[in-house]
Amino acid sequence: MTFAIRAFAPSDEDSVVALWEEAGLTRPWNDPRADIRRKITVQPELFLVAVEDGSVVGSVMAGYDGHRGWLYYLAAAASHRGRGVGRALVAEAERLLEAMGCPKVQLMVRPDNTGARGFYDALGYEPFTTWTTGRRLIVDGPGGPA
Ligand SMILES: CC(C)(COP(=O)(O)OP(=O)(O)OC[C@H]1O[C@@H](n2cnc3c(N)ncnc32)[C@H](O)[C@@H]1OP(=O)(O)O)[C@@H](O)C(=O)NCCC(=O)NCCS
Repeated sequence: MTFAIRAFAPSDEDSVVALWEEAGLTRPWNDPRADIRRKITVQPELFLVAVEDGSVVGSVMAGYDGHRGWLYYLAAAASHRGRGVGRALVAEAERLLEAMGCPKVQLMVRPDNTGARGFYDALGYEPFTTWTTGRRLIVDGPGGPA
């Protein structure tokens, strides 16, 4: 493992947005730069990047709401997949959440994202069924699902 994990810094923004676009995590109705702006005001220490040779090669955005920990925007650069970047990012997010007293970490995966499901299975995450619902409070883009 030659990459390092650290908290997001404002100078990472362009690289992180490019990483999310490459990883297929952006959606027209979610402005990734607005998501970053919001996150750096709420538990910014839980927004992590993996860096190798000065380049961002992975990210995860975690949060603790006082009941559950949540993971969003997990990505490894396509050029760096299969090298433990995703596993290390999740492990560090889990470590930070647990240190805050968070009893459980969970996440949502879009149904067609079989790769992410295989990844989380490999990490020992256990699927559970819920009806997930939500309502937009701030519209970022042209509208669409949450
Ligand atoms: C999911 C993702 C972050 C995994 O990153 P990665 O750095 O390649 O994963 P790792 O190398 O840390 O793999 C950890 C384990 O997961 C397994 N794994 C990784 N991708 C997998 C897949 N598509 N299917 C099954 N298992 C997978 C690895 O084999 C490894 O298992 P092992 O340690 O027992 O050998 C990466 O594929 C990615 O960025 N995907 C696109 C974005 C995305 O879908 N994010 C999740 C949104 S919910």
